[in-house]
Amino acid sequence: MIDPHLFDETDPAKWRLAIRVMAMPADTNAAGDIFGGWLMSQADIAGATVAVQAAAGRVVTVAVNEFRFVSPVAVGDIVEIYARVQRQGTTSVRVEIAAWARREMDPDSHHHVANANITYVAVAADGRPRPIASRTDPA
Ligand SMILES: CC(C)(COP(=O)(O)OP(=O)(O)OC[C@H]1O[C@@H](n2cnc3c(N)ncnc32)[C@H](O)[C@@H]1OP(=O)(O)O)[C@@H](O)C(=O)NCCC(=O)NCCS
Repeated sequence: MIDPHLFDETDPAKWRLAIRVMAMPADTNAAGDIFGGWLMSQADIAGATVAVQAAAGRVVTVAVNEFRFVSPVAVGDIVEIYARVQRQGTTSVRVEIAAWARREMDPDSHHHVANANITYVAVAADGRPRPIASRTDPA
């Protein structure tokens, strides 16, 4: 059994592996390549895992500030997405994201496939922005 305490993931400003997933045939575009929107979706999810921790609660994506496709992803690639908090504002968290692929035929390889910067906003139950520190403020 894996002991979760072996992993120190307390600091969202440090790079961490947020997602590891295999690119499947269902994720391809009409040309048979992996669809860029699939990778964007995975990056958004990866960034959100870090933003939720930094914001201590629910977040929504407000902006994809930058997304750069560095090299293609192929069916069968193991895609690993790393994320860290780059900047924290009053209600927003900007997350830096880097995606790498391990080819199916060469699982020890690392190919840089994308970089992104995505901003998330901490929201309250009504969907409006909330100050990030508010959760820890004394009642
Ligand atoms: C996100 C949302 C709650 C923000 O509400 P808002 O009233 O526009 O909020 P504000 O203008 O006060 O901005 C909130 C924060 O977002 C930041 N922000 C707004 N637009 C931004 C942009 N284009 N890029 C980066 N940051 C941005 C602001 O700087 C502010 O950050 P700060 O408090 O740390 O300074 C609202 O726009 C919303 O619900 N959007 C839809 C979210 C969603 O559905 N996402 C999924 C899309 S599929």
